[in-house]
Amino acid sequence: MGYLPTRLRQHGVLRKMVRDVQLTMDDMIYPIFIVEGENVYKEIESMKGQYHISVDQLERLVPQWQSKGIKSLLIFGVPDEKDAEGACAYDDNGIVQKALRAIKAISSEIFLITDICLCQYKSDGHCCFFDPQGKIKREETLRTLDKIAISHGKAGADMVAPSDMMDGRINSLRTALDKNGFEHLPIMAYSAKYASSFYGPFRDAAHSAPAMGDRQAYQMDFHRASEAISEFELDVKEGADILMVKPAMPYLDIVSKASERFNRPIAAYQVSGEYAMLERGVRENLIAEKSIYESLIGIKRAGANLILSYFAPVVQELIEKYS
Ligand code: PBG
Ligand code: ZN
Repeated sequence: MGYLPTRLRQHGVLRKMVRDVQLTMDDMIYPIFIVEGENVYKEIESMKGQYHISVDQLERLVPQWQSKGIKSLLIFGVPDEKDAEGACAYDDNGIVQKALRAIKAISSEIFLITDICLCQYKSDGHCCFFDPQGKIKREETLRTLDKIAISHGKAGADMVAPSDMMDGRINSLRTALDKNGFEHLPIMAYSAKYASSFYGPFRDAAHSAPAMGDRQAYQMDFHRASEAISEFELDVKEGADILMVKPAMPYLDIVSKASERFNRPIAAYQVSGEYAMLERGVRENLIAEKSIYESLIGIKRAGANLILSYFAPVVQELIEKYS
């Protein structure tokens, strides 16, 4: 017989030798939710195993995360009070800014990324401002996002990740960062961010569900793939350093297209809904724990360099058990 594909599957050592991809902790980014107050370490109802964390708890948690191999965090702020302007998002004493300073004081090694958006901070829960007719006020939104990014930079962010989906935001952010002494701060753009039902548990966790309407006027329509290419092209042209696809598992075609076409590292975000399904499936013995590992390998195989996942704290263990 000529080529028998099963020949390479007979010995474990050879099986591993011929693998195309592998998962390492170097690829993983762990998203966390920081709240106001003290002594808060409260499990999030919709995302079992994930917590609302107050800044004082970080001293205990950061070393724990590091011992599990975590090298990078994506910080989400969940403020107590929202306002029409979302002003607490760019307050130098805001929740994310406080968390950045606290974590930097605990560890100089950990790499800190911040989400740049308005929805957690603005009373209506939207990612942008609207005029009385309901049209997006793009300029005003961009100016505010710029202020948020600069304030995060000042507080110690190592990279910023705009998730608002406003047109022109990468150009606007890059210009604002450069002007304010943050020329070296990279931007990881949520380039292809779809209007997805898989964000449900996050909106519960971040108290960021829109008070009225939805996000279809600015997040992408998931019936379209070609549009993602234009979004990547624009973000590359405007100066994005890393391109992100979000969610991950139902959008692996988009991850694959991005990695084939663009000379930028690709990140994929395994979002809250993907986490909640897998976590509960495994907890209730509907599927084996190895399925979590498989889901992450699938994302890598599609072409992602970086993975944002709530599973990050268990990935080292998954690699040891299943790779
Ligand atoms: C804020 C933001 C969202 C997520 C990341 N940044 C929510 C949204 O756009 O509605 C979703 C993350 C997740 O579901 O895990 N714009
Ligand atoms: Zn938002």
